[in-house]
Amino acid sequence: MKILVTGGAGFMGSHLCEKYVKEGHTVVCLDNFMNGDLGNVRALLNYSNFKLVNGDVRNFDMVEKLARDSDVIFHLAAQIHVDRSIIEPRMTYDINVFGTLNVLEAARIYDVKKTVLASSSEVYGPALTAPMKESHPLRAPHIYGASKIAQDRMAFAYINTYGMNVTITRPFNVFGPRQKDTGYGGAIGIFVRRALSGMPPIIYGDGKQTRDYTYIKDTVNMYDLLLKHDKPIREPINFGTGKEISILGLAKLIIRAAGKEGTLKPVFVDKRPGEVSRLIADASNGKKLLGWQPKYTLEQGLEEYVDWYKNYKSEEWAKPG
Ligand SMILES: NC(=O)c1ccc[n+]([C@@H]2O[C@H](COP(=O)([O-])OP(=O)(O)OC[C@H]3O[C@@H](n4cnc5c(N)ncnc54)[C@H](O)[C@@H]3O)[C@@H](O)[C@H]2O)c1
Repeated sequence: MKILVTGGAGFMGSHLCEKYVKEGHTVVCLDNFMNGDLGNVRALLNYSNFKLVNGDVRNFDMVEKLARDSDVIFHLAAQIHVDRSIIEPRMTYDINVFGTLNVLEAARIYDVKKTVLASSSEVYGPALTAPMKESHPLRAPHIYGASKIAQDRMAFAYINTYGMNVTITRPFNVFGPRQKDTGYGGAIGIFVRRALSGMPPIIYGDGKQTRDYTYIKDTVNMYDLLLKHDKPIREPINFGTGKEISILGLAKLIIRAAGKEGTLKPVFVDKRPGEVSRLIADASNGKKLLGWQPKYTLEQGLEEYVDWYKNYKSEEWAKPG
């Protein structure tokens, strides 16, 4: 297969690139390196079936050219930071919505066999019911979430208008190697970085807020099951485990995984306005339609992430050019 991965030098995209390159498929990675890293895909440059394109999904000519030669598109490129979306709403919207429109339009023109979109659980906003089914109202209260709703609904419109084989995935929190550990990243990356450098995790509020974490290898497996699924899945599908953990519980697990039990204790600060208190997937569609089951427990995933992080510290994140 010829597979195009947009955002392929990012956290999730680079794992998809790696899997399919190593299986012998032709993989093109399109990334503008806004948040991606050459270090994530550097090893793949040794494979003749891998091509790295430093480009932008906002550039329709480029997307069109790449889609022409693709059997499958995984569309992951996005401006993913909620904080940045507040400062740069137009840029966020341009990438997340018009970038998606470019991908959908190119897939339509060139009859791409399958397009898989990474929407987000962020589209749901504060939970009215938990776990959240795919039918939960889309009530994201921030710019990032609104841009993900727009891209999600645009994909839905393309499916219904043109009968295209597009699947809208809504990942909950994904974690694992190559995930950034900056202030913008998820709690896991930040907690691990702090714990390994002897600093306590900082918790906003009482730490009772919950999240549903999936280890990246399980997420990649779910995308692969989706790719191999013989029938189009035209309704959005949650990518989550259906299990929740409190942020305080997570902080304690990370302290243990980092070997800092007894020396570090979480520090509590004011609650962040608008933070979602429960985020947990109704994961039944993934299990029913794809036969997916997570293979990693949170503890196992954290152990691998901490191990990776220790080595990653000694590596430089290279930028192209
Ligand atoms: N990681 C999660 O927990 C999670 C949860 C829900 C949804 N998602 C979605 O999954 C996708 C991947 O997320 P991630 O965590 O790997 O983020 P990431 O930031 O690591 O990956 C996104 C990639 O897109 C690239 N990119 C940004 N703008 C671009 C543009 N205009 N043109 C080309 N490339 C561009 C970035 O450089 C980056 O490499 C995103 O669409 C995100 O919204 C992620």
